[in-house]
Order: sequence, then structure tokens, then C-alpha cells
Amino acid sequence: MNAPLTDRKATNFEVDFLRRMPKVELHVHLEGAISPSTIRTMAARNNVTLPVSEGELENFFKFRDFDHFLEAYYAATSTMLTLEDWRLMIDQFMADRREQNIVYSEVFVSASHHLQRYDHDEWIRVLSESIGEGEERYGVRIRLIPDISREVPETSRPVLDFVTKAWENGVALGIGLGGPEQGFPPELFTDVFAEAKQAGMHVVAHAGETEGAASVRGAWNGLGAERIGHGLRVLEDPDLTHDMAAARVPFEVNPTSNYCIGVVSQDSPHPIRGMIDSGLVVTVNSDDPALFGNSLAQEFQLLIEQGFELEELWKLNLDAIGASFLNETEKETLTQQFCVFHTENSGGR
Ligand code: ADE
Ligand code: ZN
Repeated sequence: MNAPLTDRKATNFEVDFLRRMPKVELHVHLEGAISPSTIRTMAARNNVTLPVSEGELENFFKFRDFDHFLEAYYAATSTMLTLEDWRLMIDQFMADRREQNIVYSEVFVSASHHLQRYDHDEWIRVLSESIGEGEERYGVRIRLIPDISREVPETSRPVLDFVTKAWENGVALGIGLGGPEQGFPPELFTDVFAEAKQAGMHVVAHAGETEGAASVRGAWNGLGAERIGHGLRVLEDPDLTHDMAAARVPFEVNPTSNYCIGVVSQDSPHPIRGMIDSGLVVTVNSDDPALFGNSLAQEFQLLIEQGFELEELWKLNLDAIGASFLNETEKETLTQQFCVFHTENSGGR
């Protein structure tokens, strides 16, 4: 990926600091975080034929546009067929979190595409056990946000029923909305989101990624989304931007994803700077790291190369704790841990 760069390069100190700093991630899709080798393993054992041969995979993952990206994402998803696959994926995902020093993650699962395969109680049991084992083994925490894929709105209710059980069990934080914005506006999902909120679940939505500010407005006002996934096109509406800044609604920004899918031109700096300058609360995320070949530390590094200072990035890292769905005590404990790292590692630049 040729992200537009200034002359600024991250120093060795900065690269090392970003890799080692404890991090929180709020926008990452489990299915988009599974390595190509594990995808191939699951495809082989489940007799799934991937739409491209091994040699062509590299080109397949150079996305022309959002629809092409989604085709690859669902090809990967189509290999995940058994409860054993979920055990494997969660183990590998949490091992990778450890490797990246991402101590807490809120993780999307495209529930619309898996629900019909399993008994829901069984699936929740496996998810819960796997997450518990991962916490023991790797010392990192994750919680799930199963989401509705917009292109199959008829799955909204079954997803809500599943999420309700997973939320009662403590595996899920609430419900999300993903998939293609075009042709599937937030208004299609108002009732289900209202019910989820009424029951006390968290609600979040992708919006303003490929569609404009009206989509962000719909997600915020219509669905009551507590955080917006991507959301960069909010800037097209200064009044909405002002209102969302005043309400301190967090935006989950994914710079590499936006460049890879083509929603931000390779020739321009990422609008995250404009979002911050407009007073919006912003967090940095990797979205689908296995598909985009990125890590969370590399997202921060990309921003250094676009003129951000390390201390600004550290602040965004702390803002992710604030924007998370952890309770206040957990947020405080994590903030203190992070600050110990900062104090011990900020010298010697
Ligand atoms: N599912 C996985 N990644 C996504 C993205 N960037 N936008 C919408 N849905 C997604
Ligand atoms: Zn996403």
C-alpha cells in the first residue's frame, strides 16, 4: 500500500515504542483478522474451494473498491464452518493480540453469515470457553460485538436474538451494523437497534465509510449508535460534525482500510487530522488486519509519517480506553497500567 507520506519517517525509537506500548482496539473484525494460512487450513478441512488459487491470492487482496473487498471478506468467512474453527480462530486471534500488545479488544463477528450453522447455545458456549482459555493463555481480554450485515436485513431479528443470549452470557457487549452502506441505510434497522438499546445492550454502527454524512446522522440519531465505525464522511456536514464533537461520540477510524478500499485517495493525507481538528473524539484501529496486511502499531506509524507526534498518538491510545465499553473501574485500572508504561518508556528519544 502506497499511503501518501510526508518526508517524515518514524524513528527506530518511535517504531519500537508503538510496537511495545499497551494498546486497546475497538474496531476489528474477527473474520478479517485470520491469517491466510489458517483460512487455507479451514478451507481444506471443510472442503471449501476458495475463489482464487494460492498464487492468485495476492492480487485478489488488492482491492478495487468496497464490493471487491467484501467479496474477499466473505470468501474468507465461507471457510469458517464448524465450532472447532471458532476455537482455532479465537486462539490465534488472542495469540496475535498478545504479540501486538493489544491488551483489550472489542471484536466484530459477522453474525448474519454464521447464525444458521449452529445451535446458538452451543456456539455461545464455545465462544465463551475459547475466550476464557485465551485470557488464561495469553493474558489479553476480548469481548464480542456480533453484527448485522446490512445486505441481509432479514437476518436482523435472528442476530438480535443471538446477541441477547450472548450478552446475557457476558460474551457480547451488544450489537453492531456492518456490510455495504450503499442501498442499505440505517433506517432499515431502527426497530432492532431500539430493542437492543431498550434491553441495555451497547449499539454501534459502521457509517460514513462509503456513504456520506446522512448515513452518519442516521446511525447516530436513528439507531442511537454509541460509536461510529469509520465515519470520516461526517466532515461533509459541518453542523453534524459540530454536534457530534459536542456530544463526544467516539469515531473508530481505520486509515489503512480506507486507503486499501479506496475511500481515501492514495494521494491525500487521511482526514483523521481534520476530524481531530474539528473536535471529534477519534480512536485508531486496523479493521481487517489479515486482509489489509496491517497491524495496529503500523496504523499509528502511518500517522507519524503523516505528521503526527508520538505524544498525540499516545493520547489517541488513551482515548480508546475512554471510548471502550469497559466499566469505570476497569478503565481506571487500564489507564494506570498504560501510564506506567509511558513513564518508564518516554525517555531516550
Ligand atoms: N466488514 C468487514 N470490514 C468492513 C468494513 N470496512 N466496512 C463494512 N463492513 C465490514
Ligand atoms: Zn469495520
